[in-house]
Amino acid sequence: MDPIYSDPHLGQRPFFLHYGDLSDASALNQLIGKIQPTEVYNLAAQSHVRVSFDIPEYTTDITAVGALRLLEAIRQTGVHARFYQASSSEMFGKAREVPQTESTPFYPRSPYACAKVFAYWITVNYREAYGLHASNGILFNHESPRRGETFVTRKITRAVARIQSGLQEKLFLGQLEARRDWGYAKEYVEAMWHMLQQDEPGDYVIATNESHSVREFLELAFSRAGLDWRKHLETDSRYNRPTEVDQLIGDYSKARRQLGWEPKTRFPDLVKLMVDADIQLLKDQREGKLRYSD
Ligand code: GDD
Repeated sequence: MDPIYSDPHLGQRPFFLHYGDLSDASALNQLIGKIQPTEVYNLAAQSHVRVSFDIPEYTTDITAVGALRLLEAIRQTGVHARFYQASSSEMFGKAREVPQTESTPFYPRSPYACAKVFAYWITVNYREAYGLHASNGILFNHESPRRGETFVTRKITRAVARIQSGLQEKLFLGQLEARRDWGYAKEYVEAMWHMLQQDEPGDYVIATNESHSVREFLELAFSRAGLDWRKHLETDSRYNRPTEVDQLIGDYSKARRQLGWEPKTRFPDLVKLMVDADIQLLKDQREGKLRYSD
């Protein structure tokens, strides 16, 4: 019997957690055959760009071939499942045009991005070859208080909370001038769902059409807590990537037109909500209040 979980974010509805691994094709086939899902969202990956330079082969196995294994599981079992592939703005890399749209050519700049390009095209191929309802969401950076602690936004907001309460003095970062199109993850998940409710599958850019630097994020986050980032920041070249993606900005017109989707939370509000959440989380932890894991 698989364990049943509940989560405050999902209300009273329990969900079932099945064990599996994207490196394990036979387990995936068995699971898909057993569950008979109507929708499959492939959000799994080795998703850290810097780390992908250290473990390129593993990244390719999970992020690229893993997507193929899931598609094959759907095809081989013959289930009538719609498929969502978490494609990434990192595929645009050294961007060929500004802003990036669904027709902008890819120029990946990391093993992670190369793997995502494969996963993108294999999703298109299974759609065209086998008639699968398979869609790519080309999501630009999407953040929230649940963001992993090694990604730059959460690394900054966590540090702000800890510096403010005297637990930490310095924050070590790499490249500050890189620019990203940062949106609120909660809204981006709605876009994913909308894609699978369409009669026809397709590929969609999900973004805010605004670009901001890491430095801007830093300034806003520290000032939200009444701190001066210059007093706490140290740069560390270990966080630099051998090939960096300098600037990303997405044009989400197609998603607005066809899905009726548009971003609501803009950059300053995103920074605020993440800083506030980390300050609250730290306070709760220090007071010994039990919280579900972030
Ligand atoms: N992680 C990290 N840590 N990034 C840093 C740091 C640091 O200490 N210092 C500067 N940066 C810069 C990176 O060099 C990059 O230019 C930018 O901050 C953002 O880095 P990340 O937060 O790691 O995100 P990403 O843009 O590389 O990739 C994320 O977004 C993609 C698009 O949605 C990841 O979530 C990918 O998996 C995702 O595909």
